[in-house]
Amino acid sequence: MRRFPKVELHRHLEGTFPVGRLFELSLKNNLNRPRDFEAFRREVTFPKDSSPDFLAFLSKFHTDWYRSHDDVYFITYHSVRDLVDDGLFYCELRFSPEHFALENDFDREEITRLIVSAGNRAAEETGLNLRYLLTFNRSKQTVEQMLALYERLKRLALPQIVGIDLAGDEINYPPEGFQALFEKARADGLYKATVHAGEVSPPAQIWEAIRSLHADRIGHGTSAIEDPALQELLKEKGIALELCITSNYQTGAWADERNHPIGELYRRGVPVTLNSDDPFIQDTDLTDDYLKAVRFFGFTLEDLIQLNLNALKASFLPPEEAKKLTAEYLARVDAFRRACL
Ligand code: HPA
Ligand code: ZN
Repeated sequence: MRRFPKVELHRHLEGTFPVGRLFELSLKNNLNRPRDFEAFRREVTFPKDSSPDFLAFLSKFHTDWYRSHDDVYFITYHSVRDLVDDGLFYCELRFSPEHFALENDFDREEITRLIVSAGNRAAEETGLNLRYLLTFNRSKQTVEQMLALYERLKRLALPQIVGIDLAGDEINYPPEGFQALFEKARADGLYKATVHAGEVSPPAQIWEAIRSLHADRIGHGTSAIEDPALQELLKEKGIALELCITSNYQTGAWADERNHPIGELYRRGVPVTLNSDDPFIQDTDLTDDYLKAVRFFGFTLEDLIQLNLNALKASFLPPEEAKKLTAEYLARVDAFRRACL
C-alpha cells in the first residue's frame, strides 16, 4: 500500500513535517519544548488517544519553530523529500505564508519564494509531481489583510502555485466573511479555489462555500452525507470532496472511522478523494488512510485507482497538464500491478 501511486490534493505543509527534523530544529533553536524525543513527539502531535476536538487539534499548529529563512527551507525541503515514502505521485501541497512568516515578521513574498524553491528542489530529486496552494487562515487575518497579502503573492507569478485555500476555525468564522478574497481570485482567473467547509459545520456551510466563494473543491465536507441535494450538486458540477479519514476522526468531524462517509459517498457517485491533511500532527501517514479505506469500506484496487483518477480530474492543473499526468499515472499503476504479481 505504501508503494501504491497516490494523488493527494489536501495536505498542509505545516502539518507534514518529519517529526525528527522538527526535533532537530527545536534543539538547535533552543525552543521551550521537551529535549527527550518521545516526550517531544507527544507534546507536538495530537496523540492518538486524545479525545477528538477541533480547536484542540488546530492549537497544535505553532508558529515559533523557525528562527531564520534557513529553518523554513530546511523543514520544507525535508517535508517534501519524505512525500515519496508515502507513495505520492502528484501532490497539491498547501501552505500558509503567514504561518511561516508571522513569528519573525519575515517578508511574506520572500518566504513564499523560498518554500516553493525548497519544495521544487526536493520534488525534482525524488521525481514527485508537485504544485502548491496558498492557505489563508480564517482566524489569523482579516479579509482585508488576506486580500493585501494575496495581491503581493500574486505578483510573484510563480506558476507552480495553482490555487488558494481557506482553512482554520470554521465554527467561529463562516465562509461568507471571506467573499471579497475569493471574488477577487475568481476575477483574476489565476487560481482555483478550495475551502475547508462542512468539516465540523452543517451542509449549509458547504452550500455557502460554493455559492459565495465559488469553491472548485471542498476541504473535508463530511457533513455532505446528510444532504442528498448537495450531493447532486457536487456530482453535477464535479466539485470534489477532499476527505481525510484520520483527520476527520481526530477533529471530531466524524465520530467513527469505520463508518466514515467516504464509503457511502463513493458508492453514490459523488466525486470523493482520499487525503491525509496533517499527518505529522495526526501521527500517521496517507498510507494509513488507504489501509483504512480498504479495511473499513472494502475498497478494491480498482476503487483506489478510481479515487486517484477522481483526484487528477479535480486537480487544479491546466487541462492539458492534467491529461498528460493522468496518462503517466496510469502507466505507474500498470508498473505497480506488474510488481505485485
Ligand atoms: N481544518 C481547518 N484548518 C486546518 C485543518 C483542518 O482540518 N488542518 C489544518 N488546518
Ligand atoms: Zn486541512
